Amino acid sequence: MDIVPLGPGFGAELRGVTLSEVAGDDAAYAAVRAAFEQHSVLVFRGQEVSDDIQLAFSRRFGEPEFTKVGSLGTGTHFVRLTTIGPDGKVVPPDHRYALRNRANQLWHTDSSFKRVPALTSVLSARTVPGEGGETEFVSTRLAFERLAPAMQRRLENSFAWHDYAHSRGQIAADLASPEERAALPPVCWRMVWVNPVNGRKALYLASHAYAVEGMDEAAGKKLIDELMAAATAPGTSYVHQWKNGDVVMWDNRATMHRGRPWPADQARLMVRTTISASAADGLESMRPPGRQAAE
Ligand SMILES: [Fe+2]
Repeated sequence: MDIVPLGPGFGAELRGVTLSEVAGDDAAYAAVRAAFEQHSVLVFRGQEVSDDIQLAFSRRFGEPEFTKVGSLGTGTHFVRLTTIGPDGKVVPPDHRYALRNRANQLWHTDSSFKRVPALTSVLSARTVPGEGGETEFVSTRLAFERLAPAMQRRLENSFAWHDYAHSRGQIAADLASPEERAALPPVCWRMVWVNPVNGRKALYLASHAYAVEGMDEAAGKKLIDELMAAATAPGTSYVHQWKNGDVVMWDNRATMHRGRPWPADQARLMVRTTISASAADGLESMRPPGRQAAE
């Protein structure tokens, strides 16, 4: 397996390894897992992808999430991100599918709004538009390292509230449905995630974050906005241009990402599997004090 660095200080393409090999071979998994811990974003090209192969690969990293209510694929292990309606045609720009894609274009980390956040997401390209539709990544590990030491210390002991309805509300007031709101109440996480393998610290932030514990609402929001802007400063991102057969996985503990727009009349279908974080991934120290025993 060859590791080819991709982005500004993070991200790598892995060559000479297939998803099926990782699913079936302990040594292949160990090599990919080590690259994942180090590089945060991994790109595999020219893969033969089916739902079964993607899920078998993903399961190596932990427990797969069940897709939440209100998403295409609910109750399965697959999220289908599409602009193709049930009639096989591309949906109009004001359709829920299209609005959800716009929400995806806000910087975020997947599943920070869930009771169990995500370790990694695995995304495969099934139908790629002729132009646009890239996925853009930043390293929140490098973003943390760019902060002044006093701010680093402060954030290590700060906690932010995350809410799915908040990020969706930035696109349309009712984009999060009553069922989604009921299923996904706000959750609170430490603002720095320490990787237990290498000790490196990363900002844990997302478009879902809306308040900081112990700060008044406006001041907390301002701090989140400033940190988001610093973490996504120009020149810090890796932009992945999708080709059929591409599979990209990322570390939700140490990155943020966003989808990029593409022409509204062009079809795009991506399939995501998402693996929940566990204690071995550093999850327990993310909980606010007092909740560690409770949950
Ligand atoms: Fe995402």
